[in-house]
Amino acid sequence: MKGWSAVGLAVRVALVAVGLLSGLMPVRPAWAGQGAGPPAPPNTPAALGYSAHGADTCLLCHRGNAHLMTLFRTAHARPGDPRGPFGPGGLQCEACHGPGGAHVKAFGRKPAGIVVFGRHSPTPVARQNAMCLGCHQATVGHAWLAGAHAANGVSCADCHRIHDTVDPVRVQATEATVCGTCHQAVRAAFLAPYHHPVPEGTMTCSSCHDPHGTTSRAMLVKATTNETCTSCHTQFRGPFLWEHQPVTENCGNCHTPHGSVQPALLKERPPILCQACHDTVGHPSVPYGPPGLPTGLPNPYLLAGGCINCHSQVHGSNSPSGRALMR
Ligand code: HEC
Ligand code: HEC
Ligand code: HEC
Ligand code: HEC
Ligand code: HEC
Ligand code: HEC
Ligand code: HEC
Ligand code: HEC
Ligand code: HEC
Ligand code: HEC
Repeated sequence: MKGWSAVGLAVRVALVAVGLLSGLMPVRPAWAGQGAGPPAPPNTPAALGYSAHGADTCLLCHRGNAHLMTLFRTAHARPGDPRGPFGPGGLQCEACHGPGGAHVKAFGRKPAGIVVFGRHSPTPVARQNAMCLGCHQATVGHAWLAGAHAANGVSCADCHRIHDTVDPVRVQATEATVCGTCHQAVRAAFLAPYHHPVPEGTMTCSSCHDPHGTTSRAMLVKATTNETCTSCHTQFRGPFLWEHQPVTENCGNCHTPHGSVQPALLKERPPILCQACHDTVGHPSVPYGPPGLPTGLPNPYLLAGGCINCHSQVHGSNSPSGRALMR
């Protein structure tokens, strides 16, 4: 709306006013109620509240906003797509923004029930999202209500840029930046020296999470953490002849998913990691052999950060003699 001259404004207002007053514009467009969108009855134009000529009416005033116009170069504006807002029978702008008749009658001075998108919009988030889910229920909506985003008032438009030709959240290299605007602690974790290659762009948040919601913990793409991890790290899927109980339980017993100051994304370095569960009395935590060696050196059992020097198959072993996870 920026850059309007007074004359331009007057002309546009006059155009709309003439249209409305003369009744030349049918208030209920011919295409309303044919395709996607709310059901038609009660069949009075006022009850439906749509503007007269769909996008043409809206554009009388909004054409000047170049950013809005890029919408016409996106998948939503395909004229031939009967499922889309601009397909035959589509409600066009109002498929997303809702009935705009009152907004037009107020010459745009009031939103007047128009759906305004975004987290800080006066339109309730559930109503915003319902506009999108009306068409996207089948593809992205199946677990939306089960997810943490729906439960915490996040709107589709918090992540998606609908009027833009490039939607950064759907580009692998920029998705994490969008997520990071809200999840700053997670973004910081990926700056740690050891991390999944998200900052490098090799993978992204949605490699492990479904931002549209799942019924699993933390909206993981698979039912459990282990299934998620082993969908890529297949060598640790098991089952193993000799299992290591914390591994079958949850990879997260020893690893952080995002980033760590320890190599291999470990929560702690061995032996401290191992000793969180394994007794620090007797083998392996205290040196075998007599105490007080003349050299003052500890027993080799504890040398070089230890445990995995010997227990190298810490994820499980398939060797017949691998009970102690050493081969
Ligand atoms: C597919 C859904 C959809 C359609 C169709 C659509 N919009 Fe939007 N509109 C949005 C969303 C979502 C936003 C929030 C900003 C964004 O995502 O780009 C928005 C933002 C806006 C804004 C707010 C101002 C701004 O600069 O962000 C205006 C005005 C607007 N749309 C007008 C229109 C007009 C006019 C049309 C028809 C030509 C239209 N919209 C079609 C979804 C839609
Ligand atoms: C008579 C001129 C006029 C017409 C016609 C018009 N608008 Fe507006 N619209 C405005 C003005 C003025 C604003 C407020 C300034 C702004 O935010 O751009 C506005 C704001 C908006 C906003 C943003 C509201 C907000 O609070 O940020 C949306 C969305 C919008 N219009 C959608 C539409 C749609 C959809 C149509 C067609 C059904 C339409 N407009 C028709 C003048 C108009
Ligand atoms: C009238 C039905 C309709 C409405 C309303 C609608 N969409 Fe869509 N949307 C479509 C269709 C059709 C496509 C194209 C799908 C395809 O090509 O497979 C699409 C594509 C998309 C895509 C992928 C774009 C691409 O380039 O492939 C995203 C993201 C999207 N919609 C989000 C939204 C959001 C967010 C809203 C609400 C602001 C919304 N949609 C409202 C019908 C709709
Ligand atoms: C937390 C961020 C986020 C929110 C909120 C979000 N999306 Fe998405 N959406 C994404 C990401 C990331 C992708 C691309 C990755 C993918 O396809 O899983 C995507 C992809 C899509 C696609 C394209 C899917 C395809 O298969 O091509 C559609 C359509 C879509 N979203 C619609 C919606 C709708 C509708 C809502 C609101 C109910 C919504 N999104 C809310 C992040 C989000
Ligand atoms: C507009 C802000 C916002 C954006 C953008 C956003 N989120 Fe969220 N997200 C939230 C809120 C709010 C919660 C719920 C509170 C919490 O757990 O922090 C949440 C929760 C989550 C959770 C935790 C779920 C749980 O059950 O504990 C995951 C995982 C998540 N988001 C992933 C993502 C991903 C991936 C993206 C980018 C595609 C993203 N988020 C973008 C606001 C956002
Ligand atoms: C390698 C897989 C993976 C990647 C990549 C990943 N996550 Fe996670 N994320 C997880 C796992 C596993 C959990 C923990 C689940 C649990 O608590 O059991 C988690 C937890 C979360 C949580 C909730 C707990 C917390 O730490 O706040 C949020 C929010 C989250 N991730 C957001 C993100 C965002 C944003 C990105 C991208 C910047 C991302 N994740 C990338 C696997 C991943
Ligand atoms: C989408 C595939 C994918 C998923 C899912 C995944 N990872 Fe990874 N993981 C990778 C990639 C790629 C690397 C980097 C490998 C490299 O740099 O050579 C990596 C690296 C690692 C490393 C560090 C390897 C090293 O040599 O330092 C660990 C540990 C790891 N992942 C554990 C996990 C855990 C635990 C999960 C589940 C929470 C998980 N991964 C889920 C792809 C994945
Ligand atoms: C009991 C603790 C523990 C659990 C639980 C655990 N790991 Fe590990 N993991 C380690 C240790 C210790 C290392 C470092 C090994 C090394 O440096 O040789 C490691 C290294 C890795 C590596 C990188 C090195 C390699 O061999 O590729 C990946 C990937 C990995 N773990 C994935 C997983 C997955 C997936 C799970 C869940 C199925 C899991 N880990 C469960 C302790 C654990
Ligand atoms: C989260 C707790 C936990 C952590 C951390 C952990 N373990 Fe274990 N470990 C167990 C449990 C539980 C068993 C099964 C004990 C049993 O069956 O009596 C086990 C079994 C073992 C066994 C086989 C013992 C046997 O008699 O079957 C070895 C060897 C072992 N762990 C070494 C390690 C090493 C090395 C580390 C560090 C890299 C480690 N563990 C970290 C819980 C843990
Ligand atoms: C120098 C090699 C070596 C190092 C280092 C080592 N272990 Fe062991 N560990 C062994 C041997 C040998 C056994 C006995 C295997 C057998 O009984 O078959 C064993 C047995 C175990 C057992 C099984 C005990 C039992 O009752 O059967 C556990 C648990 C274990 N080690 C944990 C650890 C942990 C934790 C560390 C690091 C603090 C560690 N080990 C360091 C060689 C080592």
